[in-house]
Amino acid sequence: MTSIDSNCMTLTRFVLAEQRKVPSATGDLTQLLNSIQTAVKAVSSAVRKAGIANMYGIAGNINVQGEEVKKLDILSNELFINMLTSSYTTCLLVSEENENIIEVETDKQGKYIVCFDPLDGSSNIDCLVSVGSIFGIYKKSDNKESNINHALQHGRNLVASGYALYGSATMIVLSIGSGVNGFMYDPSIGEFILTEKNMKIPSRGKIYSINEGYESLWDPAIKEYIQSKKYPKNGKPYGARYVGSMVADVHRTIKYGGIFLYPASIDNPTGKLRLLYECIPMAHIINEAGGKTSNGKIDILDIVPENIHQRSPIYLGSKDDVNDLLNCIEKHDKKMKM
Ligand code: AHM
Ligand code: MG
Repeated sequence: MTSIDSNCMTLTRFVLAEQRKVPSATGDLTQLLNSIQTAVKAVSSAVRKAGIANMYGIAGNINVQGEEVKKLDILSNELFINMLTSSYTTCLLVSEENENIIEVETDKQGKYIVCFDPLDGSSNIDCLVSVGSIFGIYKKSDNKESNINHALQHGRNLVASGYALYGSATMIVLSIGSGVNGFMYDPSIGEFILTEKNMKIPSRGKIYSINEGYESLWDPAIKEYIQSKKYPKNGKPYGARYVGSMVADVHRTIKYGGIFLYPASIDNPTGKLRLLYECIPMAHIINEAGGKTSNGKIDILDIVPENIHQRSPIYLGSKDDVNDLLNCIEKHDKKMKM
């Protein structure tokens, strides 16, 4: 007989226990996180092509009802929006897929603002490489009618953040402001189970992660730093790993240590990744796990966003590795000023 833990720590149970520690808590955050869990379960099922036989007709992308099968990123966005708005806990949503903010109907409004990327790693979707969802949760700072400024908060104000990785297994990694915990999805019971308690990133790693194809477009400081990892004065060279899905690259960086870089380049002077729903939630998780993040000058969590789809260069990972990079950038900045 397979043994089943009759007392396992599910994600819902974990959040409920955390909520109990705050006597004034209303239970809204628990409800909100439950709605994200449901969205993640549905996205995971879609990513894994469960029920594919029902979706596809014999004629390729047209299903049995004669409708075109929804693209995964569109489906994921609809799932997040529908689950979040019907949780009665949110007032404003920002999604990578929507040009404008999404205002929740008045009778369904709550006090939270959620910024999310429903399915990140779009170039990996069709070739079945790992993808993920990313989210950051803020509280509305005043009693005014919700407006765009409520979403433009710096990362120090985050109430919670997390990501779901659809890899060889599905995992939710979550921080509700005191450490980071990882919950693996167990499809046999349909629950996320606490499997990675109090995750901590090693203070130094042996891996660098960057799209090296763009090397000719980088600043000299980034070129020098990566060169120093490939041809070290002492010790062994670092290994290179780059999935091209931020969630997978960040998750590996937390587990094994090292550094992830998406710098500015000649053709993308502000980098590629978006502050509100990619950089800031990930920076919150990395900081809570004892790592470090920067845009090259300041901590990602100290940037005050000016618009909802703003981009930023980002460097994150093991403290010592990120500090090495920042020293290299500083050295180059000084040289430029001389
Ligand atoms: P997306 O939001 O269009 O999926 O782009 C974000 C992704 C990240 O997951 C990943 O880190 C990066 O783009 C990879 O970009 P590139 O292909 O330029 O290396
Ligand atoms: Mg994205």
